[in-house]
Amino acid sequence: MGSHITGTGISVPENVVSNHDLARIMDTDDEWIVSRTGVKERRFVDAGVGSSDLAIAAVGAALADSGLGPASVDALVTATMTPDYLAPGIAGLVQAGAGLSHIAAYDIRQQCSGFLYGLDLADSLIASDRADTVVVVGAEVHAGFQPWGEESWKAVLGTGGPISESDYARNSQHRSWSVVFGDGAGAMVIRRGETDDVGILASSLHTDGESFELIWVPGVGFKSRPYVSADQLAADGHLPRMDGGGLFRRAVELMPEAAQAVLEKSRLTLDEVDLVVAHQANDRILEGVRRRFGMSPDKVPSNIGSYGNTTAATLPILYHELRDSGRVQPGMLICFAAFGAGAHYGAVLYRVPEAVSPMRTD
Ligand code: ACO
Repeated sequence: MGSHITGTGISVPENVVSNHDLARIMDTDDEWIVSRTGVKERRFVDAGVGSSDLAIAAVGAALADSGLGPASVDALVTATMTPDYLAPGIAGLVQAGAGLSHIAAYDIRQQCSGFLYGLDLADSLIASDRADTVVVVGAEVHAGFQPWGEESWKAVLGTGGPISESDYARNSQHRSWSVVFGDGAGAMVIRRGETDDVGILASSLHTDGESFELIWVPGVGFKSRPYVSADQLAADGHLPRMDGGGLFRRAVELMPEAAQAVLEKSRLTLDEVDLVVAHQANDRILEGVRRRFGMSPDKVPSNIGSYGNTTAATLPILYHELRDSGRVQPGMLICFAAFGAGAHYGAVLYRVPEAVSPMRTD
């Protein structure tokens, strides 16, 4: 029975940081960032707020949207690249914080494909009769990834003055990846459907381990003894390394490939797809996907301008906004697609059921 999305909810922090704000702390400008990535602004949490906090709020909003209480949830899947602590993951914090029963709570870490893998896991749990109702949440706090010190944070948030030359130089060193990311969370309530022809129709998930080093964090891991050291930190081993060009090429090739695979599985064709809800890494990647599919921008929508790349949270935030604005209608065929670190990628095909109101009324 195809699983249905019966509720969605998001939680995004209040602090909005524009490209102009970033230009106060590093050698960059709005024109470069918009033309290369499409990002105009992103949001960052206050210090002390973790991805679990955003996830708990998003889960609460999704449950309220679906009209269900926490006791109805049989399983929870949390996806994040930026957990509150190195171990354990955030699943326990979210289960307790959202007031869920002592259910199975999974931590998955497929980064930008985390939510997509979570959707497939939820569908599998329902299909194998282990659950009727599963909540999937993607949440990220990339603020902690930024190499900025306290003075830079004050300057970027408009509460401090100019920063030192050395801080400016250090921030500029990491500008190619740091301007892309933002914080946020999105959740979906997934429930058992009654027929096979609507809801989640098929998934096609993949991993290209040869592309592991396209984007990764080489330090602070248990292959090192000790797993974190002053030398690693001095060498910025705790910060992401990204091959931007390589990522672009693989994402534009593999996301469409996975979308074609999931359509073939379902014996459907590209021209039957109403919306491709793709991972929001970069507008140029989305443009590449549109070109490959010969699709117009409204069929491959983007909200990266407002949030930047929120890794595991991009798919549920975008889908929630599409529902909210009435773009999701009963009977529509929607292809969720993602590519990200690992390199994990894939697609999930979803037919919007008639029974579930696609329009939010609040
Ligand atoms: N502001 C101004 N100039 C910059 C910035 C910045 N923020 N970042 C880099 N530059 C400069 C570089 O220093 C370089 O200058 P140089 O020519 O004097 O050496 C120049 O711009 C070009 O740098 P490249 O790294 O070659 O820039 P590129 O055109 O490849 O764009 C980008 C970088 C936007 C990241 C691109 O590679 C891309 O779109 N990659 C896709 C990957 C991606 O989006 N990753 C994000 C998330 S990962 C994921 O979700 C899967």
